[in-house]
Amino acid sequence: MRDKGRIIIGLVIFLILITFPVWYNVARGKAGYVPQLEKPATVKQCVRDTSFMKAHHMDLLDEWRDRVVRKGEVMDIDMAGKPVEMSLTRTCLGCHHNREAFCNRCHSYMDVSPYCWDCHVDPKETK
Ligand code: HEC
Ligand code: HEC
Ligand code: HEC
Repeated sequence: MRDKGRIIIGLVIFLILITFPVWYNVARGKAGYVPQLEKPATVKQCVRDTSFMKAHHMDLLDEWRDRVVRKGEVMDIDMAGKPVEMSLTRTCLGCHHNREAFCNRCHSYMDVSPYCWDCHVDPKETK
């Protein structure tokens, strides 16, 4: 039974170690950290509801791509009922001009790296 104490001490040390990143961030005041995103200044509303966009913008982009590439369609209707061109660069980046301070900032925080820019050209980067 002598080992029981050691096992418990071992477990306690293990728990402290694996939760260390949490303690460390709480101590540094970073627990609630979310990246500051640059929002469009002149418009208030995205092509869909904001909470939908947060969770499903990639699905909307897939849908747009399929409709453009496979069905030859051009326009979608935004949530205000206005026609919008289904274009990643002209429409999305038309409002979200600063891809670095919007798309990329959130993606690097969330650790995602869409491969779209292997082919699609950010209009800003051609200047
Ligand atoms: C007409 C301008 C406009 C267009 C076009 C547009 N957006 Fe937005 N988008 C906005 C605005 C304004 C907000 C912020 C809305 C808010 O704060 O409630 C936003 C919010 C978002 C968000 C949520 C950000 C957050 O707060 O977490 C994402 C993601 C997003 N847009 C991606 C896209 C993508 C992808 C496209 C193209 C399919 C697109 N947007 C097209 C104006 C636009
Ligand atoms: C508020 C955070 C946020 C913003 C802003 C944002 N994204 Fe995303 N995006 C995500 C997350 C999180 C994922 C991964 C979701 C998943 O894996 O299910 C993602 C995934 C994607 C994907 C799919 C990538 C893949 O490999 O599956 C595309 C395409 C994409 N985003 C495009 C954009 C574009 C274009 C913009 C800017 C106009 C943008 N996103 C802005 C959070 C964001
Ligand atoms: C291998 C190259 C390649 C990659 C990678 C790629 N695309 Fe495309 N995409 C194209 C081509 C080519 C078209 C057709 C262009 C046209 O019809 O104007 C297109 C069209 C589109 C369209 C509709 C037209 C437009 O102007 O936007 C959308 C939306 C789109 N792609 C989204 C995406 C997204 C989102 C990703 C990343 C998840 C992506 N694409 C990755 C090559 C690519």
